[in-house]
Amino acid sequence: MGVNSLIFLALALLFSLNSEASHCSTQGVPLVRNIGELPQDNFGRPGLSHITVAGSLLHGMKEVEVWLQTFAPGSHTPIHMHSCEEIFVVLKGSGTLYLASNSHTKYPGEPQKFPIFTNSTFHIPVNDAHQIWNTNENENLQVLVVISRPPVKVFIYNDWFMPHTAAKLKFPYYWDEQCFETPQKDEL
Ligand SMILES: *[C@@H]1O[C@H](CO)[C@@H](O)[C@H](O)[C@H]1NC(C)=O
Repeated sequence: MGVNSLIFLALALLFSLNSEASHCSTQGVPLVRNIGELPQDNFGRPGLSHITVAGSLLHGMKEVEVWLQTFAPGSHTPIHMHSCEEIFVVLKGSGTLYLASNSHTKYPGEPQKFPIFTNSTFHIPVNDAHQIWNTNENENLQVLVVISRPPVKVFIYNDWFMPHTAAKLKFPYYWDEQCFETPQKDEL
């Protein structure tokens, strides 16, 4: 391999590292941003569009994080639970909130069903297993979500009767994976 191609490879590597870094930091990010121009992705979840409007890893938020999520007809979140506070505002569409509000000590249990609709708002009580489902066959469901204490640590259930002890911890969460760096061990 010639010197030129080595230099080219080095530059290509530098640029790719650089764009990765800028995607995960506030450096050069304007204060006022157009949501329509923010990066969106489904992070491997069919029917989902997720935009981190303000995030802990992306923007250095310490107390809260704000997401804009769109669920295609029939798509849904996993059944999940977290110890942070979470507030939803439904901007468009309709669907169903499933909430195991009286979580059994051993498993979430049969959830209550709540219809959700444009302009509805609700919060998820801390540690209550829940699931959001776009049950409207004709329209996207779009929600603005605020969570506390990011980055979020989520426990995922296969069904409502899966024991809490079998729930799978997903951390970092889908959209945090790219930017999450394992904290360095403290030197003793
Ligand atoms: C949602 O509520 C706000 C505040 O009352 C109102 O201005 C807006 O028109 C409502 N939107 C819809 C789609 O109902």
